[in-house]
Amino acid sequence: MIDPIRIDVTTGTRSSRICIGEGLSRDLAGLLDAHGIGPRRFIVSSPVVWRYHGERLRAALEGADPILLPDGERFKNLQSVAKVYDALIRANADRGSTIVAVGGGVVGDTAGFAAATFLRGIALVHVPTTLLAQVDSSIGGKVGVNHALGKNLIGAFHQPALVVVDPLLLATLPRREFRSGLYEVVKYGVISSRTLFDRLNRDIKPLFARDAQALVPAIVESCRIKADVVSKDERESGLRRILNYGHTVGHALEAVTNYRRFRHGEAIALGMLAAADLAVVRGALAERERLALAQLITKLGPLPSIADLPIAEIVEAIRRDKKVVNGRLHFVIAIAIGATMTVDDVTEDELRAVLVRLGLKG
Ligand SMILES: NC(=O)c1ccc[n+]([C@@H]2O[C@H](COP(=O)([O-])OP(=O)(O)OC[C@H]3O[C@@H](n4cnc5c(N)ncnc54)[C@H](O)[C@@H]3O)[C@@H](O)[C@H]2O)c1
Ligand SMILES: [Zn+2]
Repeated sequence: MIDPIRIDVTTGTRSSRICIGEGLSRDLAGLLDAHGIGPRRFIVSSPVVWRYHGERLRAALEGADPILLPDGERFKNLQSVAKVYDALIRANADRGSTIVAVGGGVVGDTAGFAAATFLRGIALVHVPTTLLAQVDSSIGGKVGVNHALGKNLIGAFHQPALVVVDPLLLATLPRREFRSGLYEVVKYGVISSRTLFDRLNRDIKPLFARDAQALVPAIVESCRIKADVVSKDERESGLRRILNYGHTVGHALEAVTNYRRFRHGEAIALGMLAAADLAVVRGALAERERLALAQLITKLGPLPSIADLPIAEIVEAIRRDKKVVNGRLHFVIAIAIGATMTVDDVTEDELRAVLVRLGLKG
């Protein structure tokens, strides 16, 4: 077996490990054994992921039948969680059992919430299969599901015992999904690492080709940044907010289009452009830095159109997102590629001006 790269997330309550390496999922069972994960393991996955990777993973886990949840954000709900509970109860799962979530962020968040709540919490292992899940959603312990009235309204903190990141699993990921994850990698560059940002710029082609030489370092660096931030601030009392760079406007774009038009990363790409524009207007960021970000985002590929989305709706969605206090808006802005600060005095007029320049409907 190849020697994985190990990154530890250490929070006040417990520590969890991320193992990264090409082909790691081939010996999943060995990796789980080596990390003291108990022998009763329940895989939760989705039909799409299982069709591509089931054979390899089933072998690794000695033939266990997976619990398959339907694919898609609209199935990230309590019914899917109940489906996991049902299967666990029928199989007499106990406190020593482990849920192994194999899939993108939807499977990870849903199965993770089941693990956080079943018998008041059982062990969780993530085997993320999208780039977004490998660099973001499987790390940090946030798990949960949507409610009909809003996204991620029901959730918990439940740190995984182990995250197994195998970049080979991304070979089957559609290009648009892959790109969506890349925007989160861009985010890590902007908030914390000029080196990562420059590497992305240089490696776009090999990255899209899923060439390990380019992909592995980008994933490792992203995981390091997220692990580092979460280790310092698990519950998002301060520092962890920098991970929301680009998400104020991004979440609003997703919400007003009912989560149908944008892949998450695409909305974040637009949100990062908005945040960079705001930073330049405020004199916090040099124009050439904003331009570098805009050029990288352009190079990565086309983004869905926003010209028909009314600014008033976006502003309203941001308000609902509780990021506005007393008419003033809380925003993470970059002061350079690789460094951010938080401002909490952005006015709605300032925001509207940014949204006009972004290309929304006035
Ligand atoms: N918990 C967190 O901290 C956190 C952070 C960011 C995002 N999220 C959540 O993550 C979710 C989005 O995750 P996502 O972008 O991974 O989307 P996703 O889980 O919906 O997966 C995207 C699509 O890719 C398919 N897929 C997955 N792996 C594949 C593979 N290897 N080959 C081919 N197809 C594959 C899936 O079937 C799905 O259709 C959102 O619900 C979001 O709220 C959570
Ligand atoms: Zn995000």
